[in-house]
Amino acid sequence: MYINDDVKRAAEAATVRLGPIPAGCVGLVTGTGLGGIAAALTERREIATAELPGFPRATAPGHAGVLLLGRIESRPVLMLSGRLHLYEGHAPRDVAYGVRLLAGLGVKTLVLTNAAGGLDPHFAAGGLMRVTDHINLTGRNPLLGPNDEGAGPRFPDMSRAYCRRLGALADRKALELGLRLERGVYAGVLGPCLETPAETRMLRLLGADAVGMSTVTEVIAARHLGLDVLAISCLTNLNLPDCMDETTLEAVIATAKQAEGDLTRLLTAVIPEC
Ligand code: HPA
Repeated sequence: MYINDDVKRAAEAATVRLGPIPAGCVGLVTGTGLGGIAAALTERREIATAELPGFPRATAPGHAGVLLLGRIESRPVLMLSGRLHLYEGHAPRDVAYGVRLLAGLGVKTLVLTNAAGGLDPHFAAGGLMRVTDHINLTGRNPLLGPNDEGAGPRFPDMSRAYCRRLGALADRKALELGLRLERGVYAGVLGPCLETPAETRMLRLLGADAVGMSTVTEVIAARHLGLDVLAISCLTNLNLPDCMDETTLEAVIATAKQAEGDLTRLLTAVIPEC
């Protein structure tokens, strides 16, 4: 697999600090206020992403900017806490950098978490939703420009962007744990402002069940590289056009923190069998 020079250099620097990367690592990228699963990693080693050459700077609140290597049970995990968002002004290829770095370190299975607004009125704030599909409304794409044929095809198929096997595994584990796991379509928007009631109504009409400002760029890059993807949204607020509450970052982070325990329980059950 071809990886651009920056990513290759960052992968080398990561290996110096983290030690040899075991085969079969699951990649994990955590969303706003959802980095607490790091505490579940054993044999943990870490490097600040600021120390990785070429790694774009994370500026978003609630995103620490750390690459961790550890294990959940016996399964090795490479976790990136501190994702980059388009709304920070990052180019789409920079937003995809972390996923490409994980792939460069040998990751074949990618688990993403995010904070999202629930659009389905049946959802509850603080609940979890497995992403079954997405709508990329960011107007951006990390694959713009000349295609790197060694990395993936010019026109990557997106008919199964989210791996059915991993989805079924997550559903089964949620059931075993007695956790409610909704399923739905994630609309990825540019942000940073939240939606107006009219935009919220439009998203629902388009077929979206949740809306957020991340994930779609990473999933496109991951599918281009042929990674299998599982994505879980933490529904930090309900975003309903006819009874919209004001949403603040503080409230989003507080609800994410409350749901983090459920998410950690789910992922610690899923990841060893991914
Ligand atoms: N809209 C967009 N992004 C979000 C939301 C929302 O309501 N909640 C958390 N991230």
